[in-house]
Amino acid sequence: MKDGKTVTLAIESSCDETAAAVMSEGRGVLSNIISSQIDIHKQYGGVVPEIASRHHLTNINTVVDRAMEEADVSMDEVDMIGVTYGPGLVGALLIGLATAKAYALAAGKPLIGVHHIHGHICANYIEHRELEPPFMALVISGGHTNIVEVTGYNECRVLGATRDDAAGEAYDKVARVLGLGYPGGPLIDRIAKEGDPHAVEFKRVFLEKDSFDFSFSGIKTGVLNYINSEKQAGREVNVADVAAGFQAAVLDVIVAKTLRAAIDMGKDRIVLAGGVAANSRLREMMAEGCRKNGIDLYYPSPVLCTDNAAMIGCAAYYRYMAGERDDLTLDAIPNLEL
Ligand code: KG4
Ligand code: ZN
Repeated sequence: MKDGKTVTLAIESSCDETAAAVMSEGRGVLSNIISSQIDIHKQYGGVVPEIASRHHLTNINTVVDRAMEEADVSMDEVDMIGVTYGPGLVGALLIGLATAKAYALAAGKPLIGVHHIHGHICANYIEHRELEPPFMALVISGGHTNIVEVTGYNECRVLGATRDDAAGEAYDKVARVLGLGYPGGPLIDRIAKEGDPHAVEFKRVFLEKDSFDFSFSGIKTGVLNYINSEKQAGREVNVADVAAGFQAAVLDVIVAKTLRAAIDMGKDRIVLAGGVAANSRLREMMAEGCRKNGIDLYYPSPVLCTDNAAMIGCAAYYRYMAGERDDLTLDAIPNLEL
């Protein structure tokens, strides 16, 4: 039931989750349906773009219908349609965008395009009702690694980004090298708890002194070289130790740079977002760093960390409230900048 509140139907299809949600007033979740394709892509060891697009096409209408049914709202009661239009896989984005446009046109509703990373950040508004900008955000997922200074609901500035692999990509690649499976992040998270993070030391890549950028491609090679040299020496590789050592190297850099960004920019709040923000060791390390520096830490529950449409609906709401509108010429932009 609508109850006189602003209602958003949101759609997300930028990678391998087909998702739709109905939101009330930006932060209230009336429904949040996620159809994951992980089991399909698992057999290939990663997301196959063409297969992802085809599955989005097969699933999208059912996912939207389920979101509307669960929220118990009719299309008449919807005030706007929010949709991810980038960044992401172009074929995947196009399915969600075409669907959103069709609903917007047929029902005469405004269309609001959402930047996927803006959506990830907004997941925190859903989880933490009291949270407001400004704050420092760390967005870490399979496709992105960004330190973002958030100054308003629709205003932000990217301070740093990965120059090669995203953090989640590094987790996924190292998990594959270790024979753990896909997606690698949750598997490394689990097995690293049984390992010694100091047994194998991997290089921490900090780049230039003042840089907030990252580079993670070297660590995958470092792990590969270590495994090969151990095998050549006839020694068995301790997977838990390697996972723990890899994770420590990546997280040391991520945590240090995020804390420095918050301190340098005078922010007393840090917000985590994206799939890797579900990582238990990252949460522990950030919590400790924030406590020592008098910074409050926020992160969403795991289901709102990974891709979902509730976060897209929340971001759409704030664009709508600022008077922003898109039209049916809105196009999918795979490398959309923030
Ligand atoms: O945000 P997301 O669902 O999709 C993108 O926008 O990329 O993030 C997926 C990524 C994958 O690389 C996955 O391995 C990683 O998030 N991930 C994790 C954890 N859970 C998911 N990485 C580390 N620890 C986790 N617990
Ligand atoms: Zn994402």
